[in-house]
Amino acid sequence: MKLKESIESVRNQFRTDSDPFPNDEASLNSLRIKYIGRKGLIAGLFSGMSDVLPKDRPLAGQLLNELKIEINSFFYEISNVSKKILTKENTDTSLPGINIPTGHIHPLQQTLDQIKSIFSDVGFSIAYGPEIDDDFHNFGALNFPPEHPARDMQDTFFIDPETVLRTHTSNVQIHLMEDQDPPLRYIVPGRVYRNEAISYKSYCLFNQVEGIYVDKKVSFSDLKSMLEYFVKRMFGDNTKMRFRPSFFPFTEPSAEVDIWSEKRKEWLEILGCGMVDPEVFKSVNIDSNIWHGYAFGMGVERICMLKYGIDDIRLFYQGDMRFLEQF
Ligand code: DAH
Repeated sequence: MKLKESIESVRNQFRTDSDPFPNDEASLNSLRIKYIGRKGLIAGLFSGMSDVLPKDRPLAGQLLNELKIEINSFFYEISNVSKKILTKENTDTSLPGINIPTGHIHPLQQTLDQIKSIFSDVGFSIAYGPEIDDDFHNFGALNFPPEHPARDMQDTFFIDPETVLRTHTSNVQIHLMEDQDPPLRYIVPGRVYRNEAISYKSYCLFNQVEGIYVDKKVSFSDLKSMLEYFVKRMFGDNTKMRFRPSFFPFTEPSAEVDIWSEKRKEWLEILGCGMVDPEVFKSVNIDSNIWHGYAFGMGVERICMLKYGIDDIRLFYQGDMRFLEQF
């Protein structure tokens, strides 16, 4: 079919004529007239249709229309998108565009928000407490004996012999129980500080969420089911977890919760917990014959690292956009 060849040849001619892109209005206009003007090449091809045999017309018409659309959309795009660029001489349209950076919620904040919403959903209120506190609230009332190694200068930042940067959020358990009569049920998010050698797994500050629930009937199995619910919502229904006996001066019995990491093929600790020790109740004048309680404390960085497979705690504090943009 002769027309078919003519269509192909006009197409090739147009591709050559339009590349490189005409860079001024005058040559763009003559290109337009040459192809889609009233007496242009496309119009010429259409008038050639009368010579095509009737059986070949549908195909010829289709091919011709495709070419017309191709050329029309070329001019359409130029006039809509590039007009401004064309009028500015020497503009390099191949340069990359300007990226407008979008903000991100810090991964730690996202994890914290999620923890808060899980516990709020089941009736915990949210409380905050002081980051600078006295020895009594951070240690003494929590039943740390005077010679306990955590009081040592190695672990704790002392402001003076009686004042510390809190080493855990457990200090707020004491404030809450001093300030209010039971029953009470709180989680306490906040920053804590430790004088530790900085490495991929420890930093001088990190975040914890403390939990405390005091009422007349609170049992270890309540604690267990609460934490099972938390782990399922945080890490997914199929997460394997275990309670392992442990020791904290302020709980008896005490336990730690591990979750199974399929990636690392090992158990990883995510929190400490236990039943509030009667000695702690004594220090805040709550009668442990009437009131019982459970408490727990979890590391937010730890949980976030496990959830997203982050292997260096320092990344949270460096403000590196290459890291933050992934969340
Ligand atoms: N305060 C502990 C820590 O920083 C964590 C903890 C363990 C908090 C057991 C608790 C608890 O409330 O019951 O390692």
